[in-house]
Amino acid sequence: MPSIILNPKPSALQKPHLNLAVIGHVDNGKSTLTGRLLYETGYVDEKGFKEIEEMAKKMGKEDFAFAWILDRFKEERERGVTIEATHVGFETNKYFLTIIDLPGHRDFIKNMIVGTSQADAAMLVISARPGEFETAIGPQGQGREHLFLAKTMGVNQLIIAVNKMDVVNYDQKRYEQIKAELVKMLKLLGYDPNKVPIIPVSAVKGDNIKSKSSNMPWYNGPTLLEAFDSLEPPQRPVEKPLRLPIQDVFSITGAGTVVVGRVETGVIKPGDKVIVMPPAKVGDVRSLETHHMKLDEAKPGDNIGVNLRGIEKDDVKRGDVLGKVDNPPTVAEEIVARVIILWHPTAIGPGYAPVMHVHTATVPVQITELISKLDPRTGQTIEQKPQFIKQGDVAMVKLKPLKPVVVEKFSEFPALGRFALRDMGRTIAAGQIVEIKPAKVEIK
Ligand code: GTP
Ligand code: MG
Repeated sequence: MPSIILNPKPSALQKPHLNLAVIGHVDNGKSTLTGRLLYETGYVDEKGFKEIEEMAKKMGKEDFAFAWILDRFKEERERGVTIEATHVGFETNKYFLTIIDLPGHRDFIKNMIVGTSQADAAMLVISARPGEFETAIGPQGQGREHLFLAKTMGVNQLIIAVNKMDVVNYDQKRYEQIKAELVKMLKLLGYDPNKVPIIPVSAVKGDNIKSKSSNMPWYNGPTLLEAFDSLEPPQRPVEKPLRLPIQDVFSITGAGTVVVGRVETGVIKPGDKVIVMPPAKVGDVRSLETHHMKLDEAKPGDNIGVNLRGIEKDDVKRGDVLGKVDNPPTVAEEIVARVIILWHPTAIGPGYAPVMHVHTATVPVQITELISKLDPRTGQTIEQKPQFIKQGDVAMVKLKPLKPVVVEKFSEFPALGRFALRDMGRTIAAGQIVEIKPAKVEIK
């Protein structure tokens, strides 16, 4: 398969990073739009793209050529759907933007959640095609569900691309009608509609992506690239204690143990004394690396490899968190969280034991207490100690991790304080951690 995503140009690495999740209902054009953005910004080379176009043509899937830049797996191409999250980088005037192209199909919503948990902002792609729009924002629609999940996970900056405007002949009336519906939904979910650009585009034809479209003279707002540049730079909390959730662990001949992950808060440098929790293993940072370059330090948002002295590969695993010895990551004995029940066939009561996905960790948990039920729109308590909670409810609950895991309060370390609960192959709930009773951990 031709590799056509170019590495970031050196100039891009000088700019602030921003991670943008692309969300929305299946087939609304997320991958096509992401592919188009790479093309417009010069991050896809012509030769590679021609090869993909040819392959798509041969399989009778010519209209998926842009999407195939992102959808690289055989099953994705045969079925014409995205399964895995794909990270691609390109440069705007202001940012080095990492786009996380996510699957819309509900079978792959776990990948959507993990991708969104890494995002500073989201772009909702919504099709203008008659019927497609109505499905996407309907009660069962993933446009609505994704927006809800993004908000739950603390993604507060949003752009909406009203896609496939070519299909409706660039009709202003259709756009206005869609916009009015979206504004209603935004208000309901707690987004300020005045701060959310709603941009009519065509991913396939390229309208309003890089330059203003002459097909829609009635539209006076920003293009997509202009809207990216008007996003607020994400806060990069360098002054907070170090937290680096581990994605992978390697043992490299000559180097020793290398852990890979994204710095969420704080700063890490060679020579630092670090600790990995929950195993409570202490070691030193020998060196840091990103994109095969040695680093003098790494900051929030950086994806790095950390070469450790004094810690063996078998001592640590994915889901553990690296911090500094003077402020170790918190291992939880018990958690109080606000959860939103997204789906459950019956009702949830104390004793229910789903699996929690939090940062890079996956851990079985048990709901030990239902503290209260809240009004989803105002957050006010409407019932103390409910007997059960069901789909659509928002509640405060007590959770007990059934294995040691690091989590933090959402208010202090958002990336380590938001989670999803899953069971029966589906997402049951999304939540934020409000309080933690720490476990006693002996440092080795
Ligand atoms: P999932 O990742 O599976 O959720 O789908 P997706 O949102 O990534 O959609 P994808 O980009 O795969 O596009 C689905 C179909 O919509 C393809 O046939 C595209 O060619 C078509 N499509 C996407 N954008 C446009 C557009 O602007 N205009 C028209 N006419 N078709 C489009
Ligand atoms: Mg896709």
